[in-house]
Amino acid sequence: GAPVEVDIGKLAPGNMMVVEWRGKPVWILNRTPEMLAALKKAEPMLADPASEVTTQQPAYAANETRSRVPEMLVAVGICTHLGCSPSAAFTPGDPALGADWPGGFLCPCHGSTFDFAGRVFKNKPAPTNLEIPPHQYLTDSRLIIG
Ligand code: FES
Repeated sequence: GAPVEVDIGKLAPGNMMVVEWRGKPVWILNRTPEMLAALKKAEPMLADPASEVTTQQPAYAANETRSRVPEMLVAVGICTHLGCSPSAAFTPGDPALGADWPGGFLCPCHGSTFDFAGRVFKNKPAPTNLEIPPHQYLTDSRLIIG
């Protein structure tokens, strides 16, 4: 499939857009300072906090934000368990997820949860973190996926 070019110039902090790449939904989330702080809070609760499973991201995204630009999450929005689409569960302490919930994503099919970097929480059915697709920035507002 061809690379996809996306204009992210109008994507405000806290907002997410979804684009299609190779028939897959790719999330682009402009993380707020609070969302970035939530990554640290989530770390002890994660199965692979340091992105050691190398199949799930390019080497340049094996860092603490799983991204090239710290604010920007670019991730394939397909659960690594059986392929459902996780949904936004952005509110910390969401009553459905518990007082410790730092914010992230919830898969409706079997309850896997992911943080704002797409890292899976421990003891969930999804075996790995969400996939980070190959991507690069041409400018601050022009993103190429693929
Ligand atoms: Fe997401 Fe099973 S498909 S938890």
